[in-house]
Amino acid sequence: MFSRVTRPPKMATKFGLSVLFISFCSLFSPTLSSSITSNEIESWCNKTPYPEPCKYSMKQNQKTFIPNQEFESRRVAIELALQSALTAQSHHQRLWPTLRNDREKNAWTRCLNFYNKTIDELNLALDSNIKSTNFDTQTWLSAASTYLESCRDTINDLGVSDSMLPLMMSNNVSKLITNSLDLYCKPSSAFPQTYRDDFPTWVKEADRKLLQEPSPSPDLVVAQDGSGDYSTIKDALDQAAAKSSGNGRFVIYIKSGVYKEYLEIGQKLENIMLVGDGMTKTIITGNRRNGTGAVDTFHSATVGVDGGGFIARDITFQNTAGRSTKPSSCSPAIKLRSLCLLPLRF
Ligand SMILES: *[C@@H]1O[C@H](CO)[C@@H](O)[C@H](O)[C@H]1NC(C)=O
Ligand SMILES: *[C@@H]1O[C@H](CO)[C@@H](O)[C@H](O)[C@H]1NC(C)=O
Ligand SMILES: *[C@@H]1O[C@H](CO)[C@@H](O)[C@H](O)[C@H]1NC(C)=O
Repeated sequence: MFSRVTRPPKMATKFGLSVLFISFCSLFSPTLSSSITSNEIESWCNKTPYPEPCKYSMKQNQKTFIPNQEFESRRVAIELALQSALTAQSHHQRLWPTLRNDREKNAWTRCLNFYNKTIDELNLALDSNIKSTNFDTQTWLSAASTYLESCRDTINDLGVSDSMLPLMMSNNVSKLITNSLDLYCKPSSAFPQTYRDDFPTWVKEADRKLLQEPSPSPDLVVAQDGSGDYSTIKDALDQAAAKSSGNGRFVIYIKSGVYKEYLEIGQKLENIMLVGDGMTKTIITGNRRNGTGAVDTFHSATVGVDGGGFIARDITFQNTAGRSTKPSSCSPAIKLRSLCLLPLRF
């Protein structure tokens, strides 16, 4: 049905350029061009969560890299995700003439926007001009994945899933993003994650104590029944921003309850620790979705954290559709905008 469309997708130029660029590079750096054998593709892809899409896209986009070098592996994994997102985007653009009604057109428009954002995030993750940390890259990859999830949600909300899901979501973009995220999350031989007392060794001694103490003494208490200093977390955070001094921990204890709040822990708010009454008792939830599907999940994350040193325990952060996430840095559908959470061993 789509083969009739002859207009070349815009992205063809970009793709052509990147292929050129790779071959250009390989002229000058023979060590990077060691062409990867199909055995190497097999064994590299078999280590990813989705080996089949990995192999398929490796064959589509002949990549040259040394598969046992972590940096290169990560980069190639993201490039595969980007390539498949660009293909999906141009496929999308060609669907327009086939749409049958306003709801399908509405879903199409929103999803194209989400696909564009996914591509923007993947480009950020690949941009070597940006000085970024692994956490930054994880955040961009998670955002890329979340945008696709938003497209799916939009299609469902608009009630056009039967016709539109197969058209717009049957690609391997999410899986390839998960494959790249996995390379960042896995303890690797190059950067082994070491643990002491079940905590990664990068956790400071003082924080380790706070995380182990049965009830660390709070600077502020939030309780819905009025028994604390504040009844909303937002008020407590505003107070923390006003009070926060130096680099000590600021501990906010949030008593059990379901908090329907959207929290922004801005850059100036460093070293915040949120402590709940338990993962099933203290739940921060947000439900910005209102049936129109007009939700930009990434920017309506239940909790957005830009401040450094954020840690949390005994809390569940929940977003729409009942999806929840435990504080792990490896959840692609994470509803926290920052991944600088403590990856405790569960
Ligand atoms: C997705 O990957 C599978 C292999 O798992 C492949 O058969 C399929 O053609 C791929 N789909 C797209 C749209 O690239
Ligand atoms: C998405 O990207 C395509 C290709 O770059 C562009 O033509 C289109 O206008 C963009 N759409 C939105 C909604 O940003
Ligand atoms: C639902 O979301 C749309 C888009 O963000 C907004 O314009 C509208 O006011 C919202 N409706 C309700 C009832 O919140």
